[in-house]
Amino acid sequence: MAVQIAWAITGAGHFLAETFELMTKLAKNNKITVTTYLSSAGEQVVKMYGLWNKFEQISSGGYLQEIFTENNQDLGFSHAGRFIVEPYALLVVSPASANTVAKIACGIADTLVTNVVAQAQKGGVHVYVVPTDQKEGFVETVLPCRVDRASCKQCSPCSIVDVCPNSAVQLLDGFPKINSVLCQGCGLCVTSCQFGAVKFGEKKRIWIRSVDAHNVDKLRSMANLTVLEHPQQIQTIIAKL
Ligand SMILES: Cc1cc2nc3c(=O)[nH]c(=O)nc-3n(C[C@H](O)[C@H](O)[C@H](O)COP(=O)(O)O)c2cc1C
Repeated sequence: MAVQIAWAITGAGHFLAETFELMTKLAKNNKITVTTYLSSAGEQVVKMYGLWNKFEQISSGGYLQEIFTENNQDLGFSHAGRFIVEPYALLVVSPASANTVAKIACGIADTLVTNVVAQAQKGGVHVYVVPTDQKEGFVETVLPCRVDRASCKQCSPCSIVDVCPNSAVQLLDGFPKINSVLCQGCGLCVTSCQFGAVKFGEKKRIWIRSVDAHNVDKLRSMANLTVLEHPQQIQTIIAKL
């Protein structure tokens, strides 16, 4: 019989590539089914990093292999109740944004992902959380597409505007601006600009705040929940099921 797991993704770029790599690997195992739950920001960030299409390989749409989004609340919220009755072996939240971690730590369940966590804990389904912001200090993160105004030559017409298949780029004060809601992360704009004005995948150092690290500590004391340091650890846990 297949092992049914549920996976929640929040709006975080950190650990997103590692999460997708692992989810894709697990989904190739025909003894595992994956239901995916996405927060509103999660859906947007996944698209910005060009990973949306990969879901077809992970959650194919059949029963217990659905993709539930915040923006499809009828389906999403009612199916959170599934954790009380369906035989999910576990719920993973990876990557877990500082925002979602803060809400879980305070017992808030007002979004699809935080509600799913609450229902899982109530239904006795163990929750594994991989927070992005774990320890106060600097971490390196990877950025999605952005226009570097210093490199932009303000060409007319602008190849970035013209090449985007999702009409996600408009001019603002003569410079192209990427609409992050419409961007699907295809990267066509990166190669279309001969001046290299679109940057994709830049590495940046960011500061993890103490309040976010403190919220992760609060999670560690919650029942029916385990905090993991890296998405890769989930593989070992699933292998033992
Ligand atoms: C491209 C991008 C990457 C982000 N990466 C992170 C991240 O790694 N960690 C984090 O805590 N927030 C990150 N955020 C901010 C969250 O998306 C934001 O706090 C959002 O409200 C989280 O909502 P959610 O917890 O419901 O998914 C990122 C936002 C964007 C646009």
